[in-house]
Amino acid sequence: MPEPLIDSLQFMVSNPGGDLDPKDVVGRDLFIEQLWERLEKQSVLLNAERRIGKTQVIKKMRSMPAAGWKPIYQNLESVKTPAEFAELVYDEVQQHLGTKNRAINWVQRFLEENTAKYKDVELGLKERSWQELINAAMGDLLAARQEGKGRVVFFWDELPFMLQNIMRGEQGIEQTNTLLSFIRSLSDKFPDLRVVLTGSIGIHHIIAQLRKARIPADPLNKFYPTTLDPLSPAWGDALAHALIRGEKLKFPEINAAARAISESVDHFPFYIHNVIARWKDEQRNGGAPEIRAFVQEQLVAANDPWSLKHFRDRIYTYYPDAHEQQLAHKILNTLALEGDDDDPPQAQSVEEIQNRIATDTDRQKLLAILEKLENDHYLKRSPTGAYHFRFPLIRRWWRLHS
Ligand SMILES: Nc1ncnc2c1ncn2[C@@H]1O[C@H](COP(=O)(O)OP(=O)(O)O)[C@@H](O)[C@H]1O
Ligand SMILES: [Mg+2]
Repeated sequence: MPEPLIDSLQFMVSNPGGDLDPKDVVGRDLFIEQLWERLEKQSVLLNAERRIGKTQVIKKMRSMPAAGWKPIYQNLESVKTPAEFAELVYDEVQQHLGTKNRAINWVQRFLEENTAKYKDVELGLKERSWQELINAAMGDLLAARQEGKGRVVFFWDELPFMLQNIMRGEQGIEQTNTLLSFIRSLSDKFPDLRVVLTGSIGIHHIIAQLRKARIPADPLNKFYPTTLDPLSPAWGDALAHALIRGEKLKFPEINAAARAISESVDHFPFYIHNVIARWKDEQRNGGAPEIRAFVQEQLVAANDPWSLKHFRDRIYTYYPDAHEQQLAHKILNTLALEGDDDDPPQAQSVEEIQNRIATDTDRQKLLAILEKLENDHYLKRSPTGAYHFRFPLIRRWWRLHS
């Protein structure tokens, strides 16, 4: 990764959780370049912790596509049925077609949606299924590509939320399976089409639920799996530096302050923006706390300003089995409390964990839970096979709340 010069970035204002101007999305150029390269060959599944910057990465890719690409970004978070999904895709695709195609499609959709009104007219139309609707949209897009409009890549953000919504609905399991199989089949029908699926958590839980219902699902095995890490320390420093300057914050030593801020939040860009925003208020009120103590305050604040309770609460959602829940908590408590507050977190082997939590659970079951905790971004495995918390920040939060 090309390292930035500490003051190479422009002045920036803090915007935690907001949409950034693509030039303010920093430290991701190499990742983006690699993603475009991968998309030449296959579709991608981008699974990484929430707030790490996935949406900003794919929105930057949408704003500044590599040559020859035509990106379409869609947030699927609130979609509740496959039919809604198909409508969303279909409607969006219309924006990318020439006026003639668009007009023909509009008339057809209008008549389909109003079949009752026109039932006396001999139209030869039937309402299309959601699968037919998506197929039609994709077919139109490919035809448009042949007219030189660029190769399409869909960025389907927060796919697991949509799947969870569908799963909760009527015939949820069947519908989810049908939709996932359909998404899988798109690459066979339209070999040129590319999709980037993103999500923070959940897709493996959904597949596990399908398997539990005896559906032998492996719908995303053709997708290239990848993840996104926090910023490199150098980019984290540079971001904090640009924000300190942009917000005109006063520190005795700006380089040291930028480094301390980025380090104390594991170089998560979201928390860097957040510390700066809150610090600004603090300075306005005349305060000048010490940086690490200030971050620690955010971790213990009763109103949970960074919504870190989510890390504990989601265990109840994603580990529905009570015994599993208990084990997951015990494992995380053990790994959080072992050692002192400082990084790097202590890693422990499977045997050590088994001894510490004094469980008679067999090793295979324990390994399965550890694997889940790893997939859910709580834990990371060191090259020796030992486990530790993936993010020191989350470990510090857990220490304070276990
Ligand atoms: N590369 C980046 N450079 C600067 N700030 C970033 C970057 N990525 C994320 N952020 C900050 O973090 C916030 C959350 O990022 P977002 O992309 O929404 O995370 P995710 O989609 O992974 O949950 C953004 O609103 C922004 O404030
Ligand atoms: Mg997002």
